[in-house]
Amino acid sequence: PLVPMRLLLDHAAENDYGLAAFNVNNMEQIQAIMEAAEETNSPVIVQASRGARKYSQDAYLKHLMLAAAELYPNIPIVMHQDHGNSPDTCQSAIDNGFTSVMMDGSLKEDGSTPADYDYNVKVTKEVTEAAHKQGVSVEGELGCLGSLETGGGEQEDGHGATEALSRDQLLTDPDEAERFVAETGVDALAVAIGTSHGAYKFTKKPTGEVLAMDRIEEIHKRLPNCHLVMHGSSSVPQELQDIINKYGGAMKQTYGVPVEEIQKGIKHGVRKVNVDTDNRMAITGAIRKVFAETPEKFDPRDYLKPAREAMKQVCIARMTAFGQAGWA
Ligand code: G3H
Ligand code: 13P
Ligand code: NA
Ligand code: ZN
Repeated sequence: PLVPMRLLLDHAAENDYGLAAFNVNNMEQIQAIMEAAEETNSPVIVQASRGARKYSQDAYLKHLMLAAAELYPNIPIVMHQDHGNSPDTCQSAIDNGFTSVMMDGSLKEDGSTPADYDYNVKVTKEVTEAAHKQGVSVEGELGCLGSLETGGGEQEDGHGATEALSRDQLLTDPDEAERFVAETGVDALAVAIGTSHGAYKFTKKPTGEVLAMDRIEEIHKRLPNCHLVMHGSSSVPQELQDIINKYGGAMKQTYGVPVEEIQKGIKHGVRKVNVDTDNRMAITGAIRKVFAETPEKFDPRDYLKPAREAMKQVCIARMTAFGQAGWA
């Protein structure tokens, strides 16, 4: 069944594990996640960005998710709005069957950044009050996603910040986090610790200088009962970069968030880990391989099937590493 996210996060906290939240835009991605969940006995968080909802249309998404729930009656599934930019976006997600929403008030509605604290509290609280009445969970965000290597040069919306931000401007402040959770009543809090969206997070394997896992520990000490969320948490595996580049791709060498670092976060209150880029890379590598090796093929199933399988393997690996596998 489709369930509110709070239910899964509470279970994860009680049993010391984390849950991957995978982004989707289409049927094959949903199938990959559900097959991985079935094989590993995992609960599921599927999330759709505003761009995903626009691409796939709400009615398709909703009915694909209902199909997943029908096909796997024993797997609890959360359907989450990723990076909602306004109370209206969050309500329209709820109206279309989402069981959880993120109100990302760390940015202004038009994506410019950063929004001030009072604005963030105001919009997030508005969403929490409305969503909770409807049995829907809420994730908020405090702090600014963005690389400490570049001072936020690569912002979460993909646009560069107008001026470089300092470490303290980028990272979530523990005092402010404590106030924010009390003032908004969110079920989960996304924190900024130096990660950014997309493949190009770090120019070398990240150290504590650029990936502030210690911030998670500090925030968890202040807020031991709050479920923390890590965004920008793809690991950008070398082998997926290599497959893409071997079959005609042109990705520059890059580094993501090592799985061991995410596991440290899970020891300190991280319950939701957002992963999109790794799955995009798995799909692209698999499709490139079919195109390169068998250019005579033109039936979409000939490349979408291996693409789905490649994404399934990434999902299995993350579900296992984060500890949600074998949950019940
Ligand atoms: O928020 C980042 C996710 O990877 C979704 O990306 O906005 O391109 O759908 P998107
Ligand atoms: P990645 O780009 O690291 O996969 O992050 C996805 C994310 O945070 C979605 O909200
Ligand atoms: Na989210
Ligand atoms: Zn994100």
